[in-house]
Amino acid sequence: TNIILLGPPGAGKGTQAKRLEDSRGMVQLSTGDMLKEAIAKGTDLGRRVEGIMARGELVTDDIVIGLIEAKMHDGAKGGFIFDGFPRTLKQADALGALLARTGQGLDAVIEMQVDDAALVARITGRFTCGNCGAVYHDQTHPTKVPGTCDVCGSTNLKRRADDNAETLKTRLMEYYKKTSPLIGYYYAKGQLSAVDGLADVDSVADAIASVLDKA
Ligand code: AP5
Ligand code: ZN
Repeated sequence: TNIILLGPPGAGKGTQAKRLEDSRGMVQLSTGDMLKEAIAKGTDLGRRVEGIMARGELVTDDIVIGLIEAKMHDGAKGGFIFDGFPRTLKQADALGALLARTGQGLDAVIEMQVDDAALVARITGRFTCGNCGAVYHDQTHPTKVPGTCDVCGSTNLKRRADDNAETLKTRLMEYYKKTSPLIGYYYAKGQLSAVDGLADVDSVADAIASVLDKA
């Protein structure tokens, strides 16, 4: 099964992708995580994208298409979860071509619907485990032991450089201008399913599971 999680910053794409990895053996392909890793490692790519991401703008299509192409080479038994990709029509066309070339299909595109006010609260409360990538929130999903990751026990909990109200404004604008047209694009192909992203994490996971079981 190959699926796309589509939604604005803070919609819960990463949170649900991690759950699907655990419950279904799928493989998360997050272009945001790949880019952040390049920045952390100080690679050429990382240096090129650092400023763009700090401002909340999208990096060029060619960069992220190349990243996805490289990861798809390895294949995935349980299928891929595309998280934060595609984000433009050009990326969507490129993904379609990549899947076709490797003889794979796209089983569902899940639009995670949330409103802007909720996004601000989610983004500004978010922190993640620097070791295993688990995602938390100050109010809605704190760690059981303060300062310690529930999943792996690491105390390396971090906040993202682009998770501030100012940068979030740009990220949201980029989403509405460049990414939201994908909703119509996949709807027209009969591949779109919407879930209520404002529900609690378990309910969203259930809603996604029922889409996948029908796909
Ligand atoms: P990226 O890393 O993809 O960030 P994003 O799209 O802004 O998405 P987020 O990671 O912020 O949100 P999410 O939906 O994963 O939410 P999460 O699960 O963490 O991209 C970063 C940057 O990289 C971009 O700005 C761009 O510059 C560049 N980039 C990446 N891909 C690109 C591409 N394809 N093309 C061009 N540029 C690209 O949840 C958020 C918070 O809410 C957490 O604290 C979580 O605990 C909480 N939460 C989650 N679900 C719930 C729930 N149901 N109820 C209550 N709280 C919840
Ligand atoms: Zn961890």
